[in-house]
Amino acid sequence: MKFFVDTANLDQIKEAYDLGVLDGVTTNPSLMAKEGITGRNNILKHYVDICNIVDGDVSAEVISTDFKGIVKEGEELAELHPNIVVKVPMIKDGVKALRHFSDKGIRTNCTLIFSAGQAILAAKAGATYLSPFIGRVDDINWDGMDLIDQIVEIYANYGFATEILAASIRNPLHIVKCAEMGVDVVTCPLKSILGLLNHPLTDIGLAKFLADYNKGNS
Ligand code: G3P
Repeated sequence: MKFFVDTANLDQIKEAYDLGVLDGVTTNPSLMAKEGITGRNNILKHYVDICNIVDGDVSAEVISTDFKGIVKEGEELAELHPNIVVKVPMIKDGVKALRHFSDKGIRTNCTLIFSAGQAILAAKAGATYLSPFIGRVDDINWDGMDLIDQIVEIYANYGFATEILAASIRNPLHIVKCAEMGVDVVTCPLKSILGLLNHPLTDIGLAKFLADYNKGNS
């Protein structure tokens, strides 16, 4: 299972990378805006900065919604660095662009996936990664993990090469559930990755070990 961090914050990306478990980064226009990165040139430079920290795939999202625009932007993004993966929304022109990029050897991440039908289309179009949004499905009182389960089953039925990149992860349990289902990649906020560390018995056990050591050495 690959771990990506879902942020445009360079400090958080460095912290996740230093932990030694990071395989890549995903971003989106909202995450860029959150860091105050605006304007085309600044955004492109920020992608390169991220690629210079992490040795792994970095998703960079297109803003265009028409085929020609998506292709132009995607090709420009792909030229920034060999680790860039072009993030394309699940819309009709996006699906056409996925096929175009796939035929040209440009890797893609199809984003804003909320149904199994969309997941089938993206795989048929040759997407490298598929991003179903778990938390946003949970937000509308459906079960985001049910969507993941459905996609895992369908992709296994046909041996689709597209990797499932579970997104909109909100807590460590989402990560564990994805691992149980055999999801290829999770992209998470740093706090969900760090949340995997926590167990009260670990804290209690460590406190006891240290207290016993100190007794013997005092
Ligand atoms: O990768 C998509 C992700 O950033 C969306 O997460 O928490 O905004 O639903 P969230």
